[in-house]
Amino acid sequence: MIDVQKEVQTMEDNRIVVDKDTEEELNLDPEEEKLRNSKVDTKAEQYKCLGTGVTSAVFEGRVVINNCFKSVAVKLFKQPFDNLEGISTDAGFLKMLETTGITPKLFGILQRTSEGNHPGIVQELVQNSITLHQLIVGQPHFITKQKWYNIAYQLAFGLKSINEKGVLINDLNSDNVLVNINTDECRLTFIDMGHASFMHGKRFPMTTEEAIIYSHLAPEMKNGGETSESSEVFALGWMF
Ligand SMILES: Nc1ncnc2c1ncn2[C@@H]1O[C@H](COP(=O)(O)OP(=O)(O)O)[C@@H](O)[C@H]1O
Ligand SMILES: [Mg+2]
Repeated sequence: MIDVQKEVQTMEDNRIVVDKDTEEELNLDPEEEKLRNSKVDTKAEQYKCLGTGVTSAVFEGRVVINNCFKSVAVKLFKQPFDNLEGISTDAGFLKMLETTGITPKLFGILQRTSEGNHPGIVQELVQNSITLHQLIVGQPHFITKQKWYNIAYQLAFGLKSINEKGVLINDLNSDNVLVNINTDECRLTFIDMGHASFMHGKRFPMTTEEAIIYSHLAPEMKNGGETSESSEVFALGWMF
């Protein structure tokens, strides 16, 4: 478990920070202000890995807020994705989408340290969760037909709430949706805003071979076109 302890402002290394530009854009609340001077003890016991993706590995961690321990998910970026631009895109969109209630709350950005620790994002831990992909592959018996309908509804409603904020996820797939299997309604959380965009689409250049492999992408994306609300709906349909 990564231990995040509150430290004095003079602490240079291992600080959770939100860089100046992002901070202004994000309009931080006092909770995050406190977190900006928190310290991660990277010499802690064994880290529990919650999952890995193309850009990162995500670990369970702990942060102290108002003298209370809180469990968090620490997303540490691998090379070559460990640049501030990519990290603040992910973090910035999590912040922007917080009011939807369907994305993890953002606690802060973890700065690269002099010891070469990976930079990352500290976010709300989605308890008792597995990815939607794992749920689909596993088909556990306790997921009744009613629960599948409920999941489908949350997917559609969740995407609508995100798109209505002017945000395109651009990477909606069953690996980026977490399901809390301990709740009756199988509550969903949309994670990973690393490819998101605001008020405009994005192009993802790819080779013909890649276009064939990535069958879940909308045809216009494979042809070098921009993402849009339509390509988001294509991604939704692919999961259905
Ligand atoms: N907030 C979270 N709570 C619990 N597990 C998480 C959380 N965020 C990510 N994970 C786990 O880590 C994996 C990778 O996270 P993701 O943000 O998709 O990284 P990447 O950008 O590398 O794809 C997810 O599939 C999930 O298993
Ligand atoms: Mg992902």
